Amino acid sequence: MKSTMKLSALILFAGLAVSLPHAAAAQTAAKAADPSLVDKYLHATFGKAPPDWQERIKPDETLATCNLYRNEVPAAEADKIVKRELAKVVYPADGKLLGDWKEGGKIANNGRGGQFSDDDKTENGGNCYACHQMEKAEVSYGTLGPSLTAYGKDRKFDPAEAKNAFTKIYNSQAVLACSNMPRFGANKVLSEKQIKDLVAFLFDPESPINK
Ligand code: HEC
Repeated sequence: MKSTMKLSALILFAGLAVSLPHAAAAQTAAKAADPSLVDKYLHATFGKAPPDWQERIKPDETLATCNLYRNEVPAAEADKIVKRELAKVVYPADGKLLGDWKEGGKIANNGRGGQFSDDDKTENGGNCYACHQMEKAEVSYGTLGPSLTAYGKDRKFDPAEAKNAFTKIYNSQAVLACSNMPRFGANKVLSEKQIKDLVAFLFDPESPINK
């Protein structure tokens, strides 16, 4: 008896899981929230936060466009965004894109920095595992982004691909107009050195990502 109940509960939940996305999509289609209302609400949630924090929730032109179209930007707008964001990418002056993969591994695993409980001396991390699988030994990771396991190996350690990865990490919206991935270099979350270390984590043959 008990197991039948459990089973029917399971079926019920399975049904829910299947029908939810449809319900959400229907809602989106029916009524898109007024952007100014969303802005007002967002500002209210920041309450009495200091001015530099208030500054951080102001969308720039790129984000404002993505917000306006709910990330489904028309092709012409997407081209404009990618061009604008690509112009913000600063490549290393010496042309070397691969830093220290060991350091890169630490940065990928570090989700600290920029939080209200962090002081100015806290180094920012990339928090990459929040959205990506990376080295296989790490079992805790998010799946919003694709798995980056064997990233360099799968790309035959091609330097052109390493440059693409540098671009993606520096400014994800220079690659995909309304990407959900943070613009780490362009928004000064990570330094050039940190991004090089991350590129090495992805592309060094010795990195556990490629083992
Ligand atoms: C909030 C989620 C999120 C975080 C955090 C994040 N990414 Fe991503 N990343 C994505 C998504 C989503 C994609 C897929 C393409 C897109 O939407 O931009 C992606 C794509 C990528 C790609 C290209 C993959 C391909 O298909 O070739 C690389 C490389 C990458 N991320 C590296 C990183 C690194 C390194 C970090 C940490 C510094 C990081 N990401 C942090 C969400 C994230």
